[in-house]
Amino acid sequence: MKVLVLGASGFIGSAVTHAFVRAGHIVWGQTRSQETADTQFSPCEIIPVVCDPTTEDGRVIWTNIAKQIDVVVDCLAAGGADQALGIFNAFLEAVKGRPEGSPRPTYVYCSGHYVMARGYGGLDEWSDERQPAEAPINKGTIWRTKIEGAVVGEQSINGIVVRPACVYGSSGSYFGDYHFKPALDALEAGKTEFESIISDNGKILTIHKDDAADLFVRVAEAAPACRGEVFLSANPSTDNIRDILDAIVRITGLKGWKAKKPADAYETAWITPLLARPSLGQALTGWQPKRMAVSDGMDVYWVRSSAGAC
Ligand SMILES: NC(=O)c1ccc[n+]([C@@H]2O[C@H](COP(=O)([O-])OP(=O)(O)OC[C@H]3O[C@@H](n4cnc5c(N)ncnc54)[C@H](OP(=O)(O)O)[C@@H]3O)[C@@H](O)[C@H]2O)c1
Repeated sequence: MKVLVLGASGFIGSAVTHAFVRAGHIVWGQTRSQETADTQFSPCEIIPVVCDPTTEDGRVIWTNIAKQIDVVVDCLAAGGADQALGIFNAFLEAVKGRPEGSPRPTYVYCSGHYVMARGYGGLDEWSDERQPAEAPINKGTIWRTKIEGAVVGEQSINGIVVRPACVYGSSGSYFGDYHFKPALDALEAGKTEFESIISDNGKILTIHKDDAADLFVRVAEAAPACRGEVFLSANPSTDNIRDILDAIVRITGLKGWKAKKPADAYETAWITPLLARPSLGQALTGWQPKRMAVSDGMDVYWVRSSAGAC
């Protein structure tokens, strides 16, 4: 297949782009940075597309490529419903001139699992991708349902949504910002403890970036069977921030950690438990996450995060 990944330099986007290349596809990667294109894309068999996809000039550049390819994946940093819908509508415009009877082009939108978050509790709080996305806890993320609904409801294409849980591996993404960096800062300052955000129960739904990327490739390859569906990209069991912080203490030699309250809506969202188990990815594509949980594999995840991205 010919694939264009928007946000190909990002934490999820880079894993997704490399996974499509490894799977044998012809892959374009979009970035706003010529340096990223030269140093991270060209040497890795990714065809660079340098533009800002949110501007009119940039739209012309990436949609010219989208006209001739099979799959577009939106892995851009979240910028709200209007930005996501603008990108999606530009894609629809680009592909609408294809000859009648052509195969449907595919659009995969990278969403987030917070649209499903119901908080901690019993089985009544459990969810999966077959449940409505009502986000009673994280109202700040409910805008996602506008773009999700547009993508899965569009009949002229294969529209697919993937909702990654809290993503780990490599530079750690928010695990790096929220949990690893405070420990590193404490070590550097000669302190014996570090502070971290955590909810009362500590539960968190997670997925390794490479397992997440594998699901993107599988649903795109099987797009005619996956169209109109939402896929949760998560490990089958929850992880626990307590175990993650204890593992950091074991590895660093720090004496312990202290809980601190979230400072903003993003931190609140991060620690809000989502009790969910994915099932559609396996049922339709045979997808199965392979990597160890964050706390179980901390020895390698910690080394990677403190050394920089791979
Ligand atoms: N990380 C997680 O744990 C996680 C979990 C669930 C869902 N998600 C969602 O998944 C999507 C991708 O997340 P991510 O963490 O991979 O994103 P990211 O690394 O923060 O950003 C992806 C790329 O977007 C581009 N970008 C950033 N700001 C931009 C702007 N203002 N205009 C145009 N391009 C911009 C950057 O590329 P260039 O600088 O190269 O142009 C960046 O590399 C987001 O919607 C996010 O909310 C993330």
